[in-house]
Amino acid sequence: MCGIVGYIGREHPAVEVLIDGLRRLEYRGYDSAGVALVGDAGIDVRRAQGKLSALEASLRDEPISGHVGIGHTRWATHGKPSERNAHPQRAGSVAIVHNGIIENYRELREECEANGREILSDTDTELIAHLIDEAIIGGMDLLQATRAACSRLTGSYALGAVAESDPNHIVAAKNGGSPMILGVASGQAFLASDIPAILPYTREMIFLEDGSFAVLGEEGVQIVDAEGRPVDCEPKTVQWDPVSAEKGGYDRFMQKEIFEQPRAITDTIGTRIDLGSAEVDLDGCVFSREQVEKMSGVTLVACGTAYYACMVGRYMIEQIAGIPCEVDLASEFRYRRPIIGDGALVVPVSQSGETADTLAALREGREQGARIFAISNSRDSTIARESDDVLYTHAGPEIGVASTKCFTTQIVALYLLAMKLAVVRGRLSEEETRSHLDHLIRLPRLAERVLNLDGHIAKVASRYFHSRDFLFLGRGIMYPIALEGALKLKEISYIHAEGYAAGEMKHGPIALIDEHMPVVVIATRDALYEKLISNLEQVRARDGQVIAIASEGDEEIAAKANDVIAIPDLGPYLTSVLAALPLQLLAYHIATQKGTDVDQPRNLAKSVTVE
Ligand code: AGP
Repeated sequence: MCGIVGYIGREHPAVEVLIDGLRRLEYRGYDSAGVALVGDAGIDVRRAQGKLSALEASLRDEPISGHVGIGHTRWATHGKPSERNAHPQRAGSVAIVHNGIIENYRELREECEANGREILSDTDTELIAHLIDEAIIGGMDLLQATRAACSRLTGSYALGAVAESDPNHIVAAKNGGSPMILGVASGQAFLASDIPAILPYTREMIFLEDGSFAVLGEEGVQIVDAEGRPVDCEPKTVQWDPVSAEKGGYDRFMQKEIFEQPRAITDTIGTRIDLGSAEVDLDGCVFSREQVEKMSGVTLVACGTAYYACMVGRYMIEQIAGIPCEVDLASEFRYRRPIIGDGALVVPVSQSGETADTLAALREGREQGARIFAISNSRDSTIARESDDVLYTHAGPEIGVASTKCFTTQIVALYLLAMKLAVVRGRLSEEETRSHLDHLIRLPRLAERVLNLDGHIAKVASRYFHSRDFLFLGRGIMYPIALEGALKLKEISYIHAEGYAAGEMKHGPIALIDEHMPVVVIATRDALYEKLISNLEQVRARDGQVIAIASEGDEEIAAKANDVIAIPDLGPYLTSVLAALPLQLLAYHIATQKGTDVDQPRNLAKSVTVE
């Protein structure tokens, strides 16, 4: 999760505020960092791969001074972490820092190259700097140039820019992507992607809205809309103590992590996909056509929530890549003497990268000669180190014991793997690949739309939090989502909850249904919709209370359910991620209304490093 800091003022040396702010964002994870200061002598950019200490060493060797600057910490997702891909990215007389995904970066890159601009990095960010620099050369000031550049962008961005032509201001812009926070104090102005970065300096903050721009100067902060019209924004006083600062202003880490998912998904996608060329880059991990053709199958192994992500991933790998895919609980796989075919790929999935059973399953696969391709959220974890390849989710640290953002980013990582295998196999046309990738790029913004249902979901939760049992039903790719929904509820509210394949209802569970049994039915408009509706009617016929996760615009279902939570449709694969979000919020609100310890539920550990 990348971090942004900016400062203008003479109360403190700018570089000290930048480094101090970036250090407060370290917990988000990064592998390169940089700062840019602008003054009468021009722009001075310093970047270093690795930890902040490497950047600080460079600054000690060659100090830079000034009262206007921007800084950034970055987790490389495209190719290896490197200095040239670190931010701030510079083009001509402009330097910028950026969080988000520019979806049309390929065409912008071609345009910049056609205009004779020399592209020095692999990043989409650099192209924004070129667009701003071109506009300034054309006579615009920094704000006008930034607005003009952003009008060319498709995708999400939160960015800060400085320019030699205007050394006394920083311009910020935001559209989706991570937050962009402006801090104000007399004679000073601050920029940050997260409140903790600037909280020691000011509590007066403005939260930039999507589509807005800000000009930061010693005289204060001016906000304008996309058309350049001034927008009145009174700063809010942030009353955070240090602990709540870590929780990002949320009541609990789990709540914060649920709402971080659009950003975590954005960061996990990173620049691993290229719409223009319809390519997928798994951080340089190579699968040759011959390897994939010879691949007898893919085996996904994990525990708990990660296992349910694998169950979702199986649909993607089999249906998109056309490769047989097996999913197994690591604690079973490690003991059942599995038969692993030649050329097989074993994929341990683990947010902590330390789960004992999953590590043992990895070693079983290794012993049988399989290639090990891990998916993990923890850099350099044991599972990561013992794998041939690792695809990191970029969810940032997950503090809440109940996994949320790691679950959805694991599904994204499995989708990327399925896409990569399909592309290498030549199984998809460019158009089909582009269509799949376009769904992925739309996911973060649709996830935000679902999370905006939080108030409604809290109300639904208040009607059922006293229940003693829950049933969660789903079919197809939504079956593992039902299992995950049940796990979320049971592990944080201590209510007994079971996930079931809806087709199994008549084989037993239906005996449980009565007026005391809430049943969550995932009945989105997919190929199995009609079957879910009949399941739903079976439950209602026995006085069961139905909470339906439905598709937006489905008017019929309201008459068949006690409560409806409507989500957007994002095709046969990624709608599963959108369906998981209301189940996370439902579990969260039921547990908080019950008063259990949501972040540290009884008997549970965040990482099960023992059998
Ligand atoms: C999920 O909410 C639980 N905390 C638990 O099931 C967890 O997913 C499981 O222990 C696997 O952890 P890992 O992803 O770190 O391997």
